[in-house]
This record gives sequence, structure tokens and C-alpha cells, in this order.
Amino acid sequence: MSLAICPGSFDPITLGHLNIIRRASKIFDKVVVCIMVNSTKMTPMFSIDERVDMAKRVVERLPNVEVDTFDGLLAEYAKKYDDAVIVKGMRAASDFEYEFQMNLINKKINPDLETMFLTASEKYTFLSSSVVREMASYGAELTGFVPCEIIDEVKNKAKIWRDRNGK
Ligand code: PNS
Repeated sequence: MSLAICPGSFDPITLGHLNIIRRASKIFDKVVVCIMVNSTKMTPMFSIDERVDMAKRVVERLPNVEVDTFDGLLAEYAKKYDDAVIVKGMRAASDFEYEFQMNLINKKINPDLETMFLTASEKYTFLSSSVVREMASYGAELTGFVPCEIIDEVKNKAKIWRDRNGK
């Protein structure tokens, strides 16, 4: 059985992420969306539990997709499965350097681990979780940016942040 791991911080999951997950689910028998810590991103908007919960609701209708979380190295997590392939979205040349470095580090730790990149769909090349957090922090409309299942949750969380910071 072919298996893809779609790793990320998903803070929060966006329509761009969902596009990659959906496409991976057509290529692989099973896809595991793994919510992980990105130590370069300091203050997450959502807790890991909240991110897992949102991702589960968003992929509910994709029968071969499940959501997991792991608080460690991606290359170690992948050892849990036989022949898992990492699948990541690549938006633009700016993503390449970081992703290339991650790929090399993962290979160093787990030489059998392969990474595949799916180019982002043109309509989502501008989209990232940080864009969503920024938009939400200004109370902007989020339709077309995050899946409809989580729009209210992202809006509510952003409102809590705004109230806390007196914006
Ligand atoms: O969505 P992101 O923030 O681009 O995802 C990055 C992520 C979470 C996949 C990456 O930071 C990661 O793999 N974190 C787990 C720890 C790890 O394996 N780091 C790479 C080796 S230093």
C-alpha cells in the first residue's frame, strides 16, 4: 500500500494545504496529514490539539486521509510506516531553498525516505497560514482562504487575539 505523509504546522490549515492533500489522496492509497512543530515559527495561533481538530474536520470527507500529530523529527516519524513518502506543496522559488534543505536533512537522518513536491495550484500560490493569520487579525473575510468548516473558528481566535492586544 502506498502511503504519503503530508507534514506541516497547519496553523491553520488553508485551502492551499487542502488542495495538496486532496491531490496526494488521488495518487497514494493512504495519506497521513501530520501536524508538527516548526521551531522557526515562534508563537502559534492555535494549539496542536486545535490544529488537529480543525484538520480532522476539513479532511472528514476524504476516505483515505487521516490526521496525526508528532512532537519530534519528521524523518523519525516516517519510520513508523513502510515506504512512506513525504509530500509537500511547493508554491514558488522562495519555498525551494527551505524545502531542499529540509529534504537533505531528512535524508541524512533517514536515507530511505523520499520527498515528493507537488506544485501549488496557481490560485493558491499566494496563500499561506501566515497570510491567513494576518488577514484574520485585521478582521478580513476568510472565504477563499481557509476551508469553510473552520472559518468561524479562525475568526473567533483572531478576535480573542485582537481583544487581548487591545486592537
Ligand atoms: O508548514 P511548515 O511550517 O512549513 O512545516 C514545517 C515542518 C513542520 C514540516 C518542519 O518544521 C518539520 O519537519 N518539523 C518537525 C521537526 C523536523 O523534523 N525538523 C527538520 C529537521 S531539523
